Amino acid sequence: MDNILVLGIESSCDETAAAVVKNGREVLSNVINTQIAIHKQFGGVVPEVASRHHIENIDAVIDKALSDAGVGFSDIDAIAVTYGPGLVGALLVGVSSAKALSYALDIPLVGVNHIKGHIMANFIAHPDLEPPFVCLVASGGHSHIVWVKNYQELEILGRTRDDAAGEAFDKVARVIGLGYPGGPLLDKLSKEGNKNAVKFPRVTMAQGSLDFSFSGVKTAVINYLHKLDQNGESYNKADIAASFQDAVTDVLCDHTIEAARQKKSKIITIAGGVASNSQLREKMTERAKKFGIDVLFPPPILCTDNAAMIACAGYYEYLNGNRADMTLNAVPSLSI
Ligand code: KG4
Ligand code: ZN
Repeated sequence: MDNILVLGIESSCDETAAAVVKNGREVLSNVINTQIAIHKQFGGVVPEVASRHHIENIDAVIDKALSDAGVGFSDIDAIAVTYGPGLVGALLVGVSSAKALSYALDIPLVGVNHIKGHIMANFIAHPDLEPPFVCLVASGGHSHIVWVKNYQELEILGRTRDDAAGEAFDKVARVIGLGYPGGPLLDKLSKEGNKNAVKFPRVTMAQGSLDFSFSGVKTAVINYLHKLDQNGESYNKADIAASFQDAVTDVLCDHTIEAARQKKSKIITIAGGVASNSQLREKMTERAKKFGIDVLFPPPILCTDNAAMIACAGYYEYLNGNRADMTLNAVPSLSI
């Protein structure tokens, strides 16, 4: 088959991104314009501000993706765009741009689920990876254990009942005064701390359930610090960070490995922003090895929001004949 070039467009949260990917797995360009510096001053993403910056940046980001790849619109076989889940105003910017380009240039349009995109980032990072496998996808808004049956079908084996793992990281980081985005800062600080300093709860749901709950551990950290504060006692931030991170990664690893054992899968992949977490990567690799399970994850640049993963997911949708039309809309709470 001829080479297929997909232009991916991503604007679901605070990254305006575009990428050109060849045959689903070869990244020709991957342009990410992050708004972290802008939202930092507010301590989190302000949706309205995010939408406005997407509008300002998206044309230049798409142009750069094409020029970095050394191609023009006439070389593009399909445009893949994230249409959910995410912030509605932010999603609409990407969806509207993709629709306009598709209509004006007569290029097929494909709608992509952002979470599916995160999972597919593993296909870019690992050219020989084939389904089926188990994937832990953990980001700022989602934490799912997914059985990736093939390039189209995904089955959710477990999910968070409350906070997403990344959300818990961000909240605890804020409580201990680390700033935004909290996950990477907490990860870094944990390296200097003692993970056994405080035993925070490892919450599991009903027996046999692979679901997560992270609001309990977050509250446990807040209560612990509150008590110290009331008693006028100080604490070591790095110890709190390391102890919290150890509790969260324990549960993420144990449930994911249990899922892989149930599915008799010899491969676990990790995806989403939290997949950049250094302890999660090490712990999952080490624990899974005992069961003969290999652990794969993308490099950090493909874990956090990017459009290469959207182009990859879009490629497989395109091959499957899935096409969107001009009625494609943003779906903020789109499920997998
Ligand atoms: O996938 P992503 O870029 O955006 C969403 O779709 O949400 O994930 C962002 C989340 C944030 O909560 C961020 O704090 C977290 O991923 N994150 C991390 C690390 N890097 C990013 N959490 C823990 N450790 C990290 N190294
Ligand atoms: Zn994401």
